[in-house]
Amino acid sequence: MGNFFPRWTNWLPLKLAIAVVFIVIGISVATPYYFTPKYTRVGYQPTQPVPFSHKIHAGQLGMDCRFCHSFVDRSSHANVPVNQVCFNCHGAGKGQIKLNSPKLEPVRKAAETGEPIHWVKIHKTPDFVYFNHSAHLNRGVSCVSCHGKINEMPVVYHQEPQSMGWCLDCHRSPEDKLRPLSEVTNLNWKPSDLNREAFYKGLLDKQIKPDEIAATILGAPSDVVPTDAAGLSALAKKIYGDEVTQREVGLQLKKHWQVQPPETCAACHR
Ligand code: HEC
Ligand code: HEC
Ligand code: HEC
Ligand code: HEC
Ligand code: HEC
Repeated sequence: MGNFFPRWTNWLPLKLAIAVVFIVIGISVATPYYFTPKYTRVGYQPTQPVPFSHKIHAGQLGMDCRFCHSFVDRSSHANVPVNQVCFNCHGAGKGQIKLNSPKLEPVRKAAETGEPIHWVKIHKTPDFVYFNHSAHLNRGVSCVSCHGKINEMPVVYHQEPQSMGWCLDCHRSPEDKLRPLSEVTNLNWKPSDLNREAFYKGLLDKQIKPDEIAATILGAPSDVVPTDAAGLSALAKKIYGDEVTQREVGLQLKKHWQVQPPETCAACHR
């Protein structure tokens, strides 16, 4: 009995190996393509039915985001405002601001017909992704981390990729983004705005032990630690310098609020 297999089968392992090499190259080229901004919707800026400007309303007029997006910190979904919110200022007999402006024509029409204004949706995660606004806002993540400086945009555009890699980047190191809850809708906030001593006093007032605060500052437990806000503040100054830094604030909040963003598939794909 000779060889069962024809001669060309000797080449089979080599062919398979070549095929595998091609597949691997294919995947490694495709992956960054898939997950970089080009593929996602960065820059998407549709024309809205009313030339509504966040730069005027949230920037110059200083209106809080929650005045219009009133459910954003209470529900999974961020709502866009109903017409009534606009009429408070632009309606007849009320605010009367720019009452006859042609730009507000669709708003007046909506008032007459009772039809909602059909705003074009900009940010949208696919249906197979679970996302919850309030779960983020109530843990100290600001709108600015996920939407950019909306308060400076005359017309809203998609600034962040909002891809899976982008979600996970923050979930792996939330200390780079966390801030006090009172500042989540203050898009201009900087860590250096904080009064260092007041920040540490705030932590102590929440019954957090000084040695745990000091260990977070130093990156390791220590035997001799300050027991009051002034002492902790002096210690932090030695480590972080004169101004309060994001890392300083973020590490304390992450540790003492026990912030642990999930990285398991089932958390976001339910
Ligand atoms: C006076 C009401 C008002 C205020 C205040 C306001 N918004 Fe809006 N927002 C709107 C309206 C109306 C739209 C829909 C039209 C548009 O996209 O411009 C919108 C759209 C958005 C969108 C895009 C929604 C989508 O389709 O993806 C984001 C993000 C957003 N707002 C964030 C903010 C943030 C952050 C703040 C606070 C800094 C804020 N808004 C303050 C009225 C408001
Ligand atoms: C708290 C009051 C207030 C609310 C609420 C408000 N606006 Fe305004 N809006 C203003 C002011 C003030 C201006 C600036 C007027 C000026 O330029 O003198 C303005 C300007 C505008 C303009 C530009 C008008 C023009 O002719 O230049 C548009 C369009 C507009 N708003 C739409 C809206 C829409 C849509 C809503 C609801 C989502 C809304 N506004 C809610 C106060 C408000
Ligand atoms: C952790 C990231 C993150 C933060 C923080 C965040 N957003 Fe969003 N936002 C998203 C994502 C993701 C979507 C798309 C959600 C979807 O499709 O359900 C979105 C969608 C929206 C929409 C469109 C809702 C719709 O259905 O039309 C509005 C409005 C909005 N966000 C406003 C805000 C405001 C205002 C804040 C701050 C008070 C904020 N967001 C904070 C990630 C974030
Ligand atoms: C800028 C930082 C940041 C970004 C960006 C971000 N997250 Fe989160 N995420 C957090 C933090 C902080 C928590 C709170 C963890 C905790 O409560 O311990 C969280 C919690 C969650 C949770 C668990 C809470 C819940 O609602 O069940 C889910 C799910 C989640 N994020 C999904 C997403 C998705 C999907 C995206 C991208 C579209 C995203 N996140 C983007 C910071 C972020
Ligand atoms: C923090 C939230 C989060 C976690 C954790 C997460 N994903 Fe995703 N995933 C997303 C988001 C958001 C998208 C949609 C990306 C987009 O639209 O660009 C996505 C998309 C996907 C896609 C579709 C690919 C694509 O580019 O459209 C697959 C497959 C996937 N995820 C698998 C997984 C697996 C497997 C895990 C666990 C190892 C996982 N995900 C963990 C948020 C998450």
